[in-house]
Amino acid sequence: MEDRFITSTKNWTDTEIENSLRPTSLEQYVGQDKIKQSLEIYIKAAKSRNDALDHVLLYGPPGLGKTTLSHIIANELGSQIKITSGPAIEHAADLAAILTNLNKNDVLFIDEIHRLNKSVEEILYPAMEDFALDFIVGKGPSAKSMRLKIQPFTLIGATTRAGMLTSPLRDRFGVICRLELYGDEELKVIVKRSAKILNIDIDDTASLDIAKRSRGTPRIANRLLKRVRDYAEVLGTGKITKEITDQALAKMEIDDLGLDFIDRKILENIIYKFGGGPVGLETLAASISEDAGTIEDVYEPYLLQLGFIARTPRGRVVLENAYRHLGLEYTEK
Ligand SMILES: Nc1ncnc2c1ncn2[C@@H]1O[C@H](COP(=O)(O)OP(=O)(O)OP(=O)(O)O)[C@@H](O)[C@H]1O
Ligand SMILES: [Mg+2]
Repeated sequence: MEDRFITSTKNWTDTEIENSLRPTSLEQYVGQDKIKQSLEIYIKAAKSRNDALDHVLLYGPPGLGKTTLSHIIANELGSQIKITSGPAIEHAADLAAILTNLNKNDVLFIDEIHRLNKSVEEILYPAMEDFALDFIVGKGPSAKSMRLKIQPFTLIGATTRAGMLTSPLRDRFGVICRLELYGDEELKVIVKRSAKILNIDIDDTASLDIAKRSRGTPRIANRLLKRVRDYAEVLGTGKITKEITDQALAKMEIDDLGLDFIDRKILENIIYKFGGGPVGLETLAASISEDAGTIEDVYEPYLLQLGFIARTPRGRVVLENAYRHLGLEYTEK
């Protein structure tokens, strides 16, 4: 599964250019309009009061721009950003050290925040609420609790799995943003923007064509753009046209909706092995030897958006649209 080209999770080939393609201001950040509008207001207000911005939780499927948005928030605030992640903070003392080193109104970005361990997470509660660290000094009956003030800061947490956050942590975020899959027109703007930065010659139809096959995900749009450019250089003059795009994507076995062999495998498994569903997530996962969490976070959001599957209390069901797309006959149950 590691080499699945179309997966929205980050792979090593992304790292090199992802940084150069990251928008750096809210203005350059395409789409997610509701989130942008509210953030703009909160940021302005915090700045004019010279306060720290409320803590922000960003959640949504991989590759939609959570990390990008965190950097933008810090930029727009004119603050320093300190970056870490849930699994990287092993001990409560590590987090305490990070927190005491923050300057006033800095941003602390914790990626994969659902993976913080319990003892580390407990340090965060008073830090987020009162900008303070609580310690127990001494042992037994003479033990005393001490409180150390820290500078006001903004915590930005990112996660693909908001459901895995404990409620005390979740409740301490003042701003909770759920990132949505992008529309074709938005992705088209992203493709054109990236092409410009990377000096790639691409026409409008090809940009839209790539957008449509990017599963609502900017990371995939950028990745497809780079691969199609390779084809354009080898097969053509270097200019990306619709013909080149179609040829390249056909070679990669990505269909005109951006589905690849794993999506088809998921759909076909439900159809052939489970009579179209409903089938429980765990059972489905076992039948295609894939992790249930990965199916839920990475593959399913796009299939749900297309109206190809539905989540029911009894499990996943394949819908009529999917049968039609796969060229199969649908019989009403
Ligand atoms: N709104 C956007 N406008 C333009 N480009 C974007 C936007 N969102 C994301 N991108 C591009 O997509 C790439 C991936 O985004 P990012 O790394 O922020 O995703 P993420 O949500 O943090 O993913 P993960 O869950 O894997 O950490 C970025 O390098 C950026 O170039
Ligand atoms: Mg990220």
